[in-house]
Amino acid sequence: MAAEVPPSDLEAAARIIRSGGLVAIPTETVYGLAANALDPQAVARIFAAKDRPFFDPLIVHLADVSWWPRVVAEFPPMARELAARFWPGPLTLILPKSTAIPDLVTSGMPTVGIRVPDHPLTRELLKRADLPLAAPSANPFGRLSPTTADHVRQQLAGRVDLILDGGPCRVGVESTILAIADGAATLLRPGGVPIEEIEAIIGAVNRPEISSTKQPAAPGMLDSHYAPRTKLRIVDSIPALSATTRAGLLLPSSVNDTPLSGYTAVEVLSQTGSLVEAAAHFFQALHRLDQAQLDVIHALPFPDQGLGRALNDRLRRAAHS
Ligand code: TXA
Ligand code: MG
Repeated sequence: MAAEVPPSDLEAAARIIRSGGLVAIPTETVYGLAANALDPQAVARIFAAKDRPFFDPLIVHLADVSWWPRVVAEFPPMARELAARFWPGPLTLILPKSTAIPDLVTSGMPTVGIRVPDHPLTRELLKRADLPLAAPSANPFGRLSPTTADHVRQQLAGRVDLILDGGPCRVGVESTILAIADGAATLLRPGGVPIEEIEAIIGAVNRPEISSTKQPAAPGMLDSHYAPRTKLRIVDSIPALSATTRAGLLLPSSVNDTPLSGYTAVEVLSQTGSLVEAAAHFFQALHRLDQAQLDVIHALPFPDQGLGRALNDRLRRAAHS
């Protein structure tokens, strides 16, 4: 659960947002690095703090669905249906942007990504600041996403005016991104809402081959992303190790009868094989492995269904060098 945060911190955070500063915010997915989405100078500070290239647009966070006219030009029936079912929650909708949204937020695109995050502290901050918040994940560009306030401190200390500590993120993997246009939905990033649940509401969703184009539809979907510093290899079975290798192992669930003794560090994401639990632990486990001075991290893939799709996507990008 969320750590206790004194109301004075929330007030300070709201003040920082209103004056153009940066606040790290807890969400149910990962921590975000937030600024006033309507202020181009504040938004520019996000890109600077993350060393993020300007071609990678930001998601805008709202206190609730009633804020849509502040950020998008239209909110079609399909978006309404999805918002009613999944907000607050880990679903980002890409829609035509309103003129109030600076081009910097959207990297010059005519669309903007919006969502209502499911975390009480951040929704309270949104209400107090009374401003939509542009927030990418609070990590340096391309690196592992932060799912605790400590991860943010380790990666962005000195580059953010305040970190709101809301405890570990409940979902642990970024939002699902869906573009809505001409009455159809297209999956741009698998994430915290499984695509099966979305299709149960609106029917078939376009799923373009999400991978290796130089300019993917969601620019954050670069081949190499969400990456630890340590080399990561996806393996189908647990490899035998040479005696001198310091290796780590990332397992979706516990394995029987397999000798793990050669491994310096082993992370089991869920004893029972729950994908929900595995997602919640995923980035924390990778952060720990990345700090264990290993030569290599071996990872077994997840079942390719539900949250397993989002996790396999993150693994593939973490493994790409
Ligand atoms: O769960 C999340 O989505 C977290 C929390 C903080 O909300 N945020 C997050 O932001 O993952 P970020 O910046 O790390 O990833 C946002 C992705 C980027 O890959 C970006 O390319 C895509 O959203 N995106 C944003 N606006 C877009 C747009 N107008 N069209 C296509 N893709 C867009
Ligand atoms: Mg990110």
